[in-house]
Amino acid sequence: MTISSDEAKRRAGEKAVEYISDEMVVGLGTGSTVYYFLLKLGERCRQGLQVVGVPTSVATERIAREQGIPLADSWSAVDIVVDGADEIDPRLNLIKGMGGALVREKIVAQAAGRMIVVGDESKVVKRLGTNFPLPVEVIPFGWEATAVQIRQLGLGPVLRRQGNEPVRTDNGNYLLECHTGPIENPEELARSLEGIAGVVGHGLFLGLATTAIIGSDQGTRILQITPDKDEAPRM
Ligand code: 5RP
Repeated sequence: MTISSDEAKRRAGEKAVEYISDEMVVGLGTGSTVYYFLLKLGERCRQGLQVVGVPTSVATERIAREQGIPLADSWSAVDIVVDGADEIDPRLNLIKGMGGALVREKIVAQAAGRMIVVGDESKVVKRLGTNFPLPVEVIPFGWEATAVQIRQLGLGPVLRRQGNEPVRTDNGNYLLECHTGPIENPEELARSLEGIAGVVGHGLFLGLATTAIIGSDQGTRILQITPDKDEAPRM
């Protein structure tokens, strides 16, 4: 039986709740796959699971409140974060940010002891940059100059708009969608982007996820890597 992408996302999102236990501080990602995680986590909280959540976007905060998931008043570290991705490569490096929450998502992912990524089979790629542009969040001041710098890296940045207006992130910034094609060296590209003034963050999540749950016709399949603490760049 072939299932829909939505059903695959539901399977992955719900499965991720099995990794959550009492007393955890849980990073709550953003997107349509995480939505199913939030529904199931809310159900578990109403049944007595004791956790506090750290939402990565205004949209996720609203859903978490609706579902009765307690939220942390203040936090500096989280035990685990569950988040979606636009692309997942064999090393579990990711492109994220089509939902526009990449900066908050990365802050939470870097603060997390463990990152679990959830998605359907369409997210699994051999090389990042194959199917999706790389989102880069930039401050509005001088954004066109920032775009010139990014273009000089060989990328094709396009301002994300809704109608005629630039889309604003939850942080009040703009998003440049950068058409990269398959990325040869994600670490080098990440470093180059981080060297440009005006860039707040980018959607390359490297060395952060250690587990991926992929919803599929058969249920879910788990991809796992063992992080090499000396090598992992955590970008
Ligand atoms: C938001 C994200 C999302 O996690 C990513 O776009 C995947 O979303 P979805 O689960 O809806 O396909 O990075 O910034």
